[in-house]
Amino acid sequence: MGRLTSSLAWKNLKEHQNVVARIPIQKFFETQPERVKQFSFEIGDILLDFSKNKLTQQTLNLLIKLAEQEKLPKKIDEMFSGEKINFTEKRSVLHIALRNLSNEPLKVDGWDVMPRVNAVLLKMRNFTQKLHNGFWRGFSGESITDIVHIGIGGSDLGPRLVCEALAPYSHPEIRIHFVSNVDGTDIQNALRNLNPSRTLFIVASKSWTTQETLLNANTAKRWFQKNGSPDERDIAKHFVALSTNEEACASFGIPSENMFHFWNWVGGRFSLWSAIGLVISLYIGFDNFYELLAGANIIDKHFKNTNLEQNIPVLMGLLGIWYNNFFGYRTQAIVPYDTLLQKFPAYLQQLIMESNGKRINYDGDTVDYSTSPIIWGQAGTDAQHSFFQLLHQGTQIVPVDFLVPVEPHHPLANHHDVLVANAIAQSEALMEGRTKKQVEQELEESNIGPYDQRELIPHRVFPGDRPSTTIFYRKLTPRTLGMLLALYEHRVFVEGAVWGINSFDQWGVELGKKIANKVLSTIESGHIQSIANPSSRFLIEYYLQHKRW
Ligand code: F6P
Repeated sequence: MGRLTSSLAWKNLKEHQNVVARIPIQKFFETQPERVKQFSFEIGDILLDFSKNKLTQQTLNLLIKLAEQEKLPKKIDEMFSGEKINFTEKRSVLHIALRNLSNEPLKVDGWDVMPRVNAVLLKMRNFTQKLHNGFWRGFSGESITDIVHIGIGGSDLGPRLVCEALAPYSHPEIRIHFVSNVDGTDIQNALRNLNPSRTLFIVASKSWTTQETLLNANTAKRWFQKNGSPDERDIAKHFVALSTNEEACASFGIPSENMFHFWNWVGGRFSLWSAIGLVISLYIGFDNFYELLAGANIIDKHFKNTNLEQNIPVLMGLLGIWYNNFFGYRTQAIVPYDTLLQKFPAYLQQLIMESNGKRINYDGDTVDYSTSPIIWGQAGTDAQHSFFQLLHQGTQIVPVDFLVPVEPHHPLANHHDVLVANAIAQSEALMEGRTKKQVEQELEESNIGPYDQRELIPHRVFPGDRPSTTIFYRKLTPRTLGMLLALYEHRVFVEGAVWGINSFDQWGVELGKKIANKVLSTIESGHIQSIANPSSRFLIEYYLQHKRW
């Protein structure tokens, strides 16, 4: 057994789980009249209700003991003080610096990063104003109306989520388009109907080596030169770059004035707060982008300064560990009852699974416990009509996070009441279920015959005791969204810290990229003997035989 799983805190939790597992959540409400108050937390405009979870005060105490045993407070301090906690890449993890609005010095290798962060923010603000005021002009002298953001993974999901979520704040004359997939359909769809003289391309790539992004950027450049201006100098009027790799951007033809920098201490999936968020600023205005940063900063301060017992991201992370490692719940559903947040599950898939989908601990040993849960989900109420059946009556138990706005951005109050009622009802139904006795009673009152009733009973019973957390927010404003995103970012940190894994590298995506290059050169050369894997060779042969170009 490994160090963590044989530790006292872990063993205590295991024993405690044996007890808690036998008590339905509903019982806790009967015996703890203060439960809702005890397990709900408010921060700014956000309310988190953890009370419909399988936990007691004793659970929290034991989980906090585990966090202390794994030196969580020290690890939080290390992140905030710029230590190279991403040890496999020898990098600091300082996305918190990007929203450090108090401007307190944050040092990497003895240098305060804040002057550089502020300089890029200022450049983003100036550029946004210039574009909005019509001072930034394309090659024909016209202003920009369409922005195509090209990037993938962390250079796409965050900005895409935020732009979609904050669409009610968008500039009335700016349209945005996102291109991430190397599937040509993606860029073809984006470019359809665009006027090159009024289009700005943002190429977002931290490394500037990502195959998909570079191919899409080159296709965009060719399209611009063919349909807009062939003059190489006009690239500077229509292409900007967000990257850490200045040289590579220059060789693509983007001059340094059009480059918005960020640094290797910003992880891709934590980069929407950096220059990678330029499209957000262009879409909703710099002041709203700043509000987004301000929201995240509130949570950063809370995470850094609040004791573990009252620390919301800590509780979120520990709850994740409780279910994953002690109950064996391997997946988690994210269900925003908010169409504006429909990309949230996809965004969290990268944030959580790329961060904590690891199996090697700090000591280089294989862990003997499970790490990241599988994250999935969809917006409600659509989700109710697809996978909720499994949540209620399936054989797997899936903890759910419900995200619900109190006030919508639309005026259709009757719709919103129905939406909110459904969210609350689902969490209640998951927890309370429906007993055989209740079903019998219902059927007796119906006009179904006694024989059919008997047959139906087991199918209509809901076991209940299925946990969920409900997160209410007053309105999806830039500030509230910034807070929500930072809550989940720090939850990821907490889980990774307790599991003793590096949440900030992503070596697992490398191998596929390498093999793809080999397969591609085989497809291009036709030398299939170089492929050793019989199945891959067979598939390449089939592809080459049938492709028509
Ligand atoms: O998917 C792997 C990954 O490295 C992500 O971590 C990153 O967000 C994405 O690729 C894009 O990388 P880049 O911004 O360097 O193009």
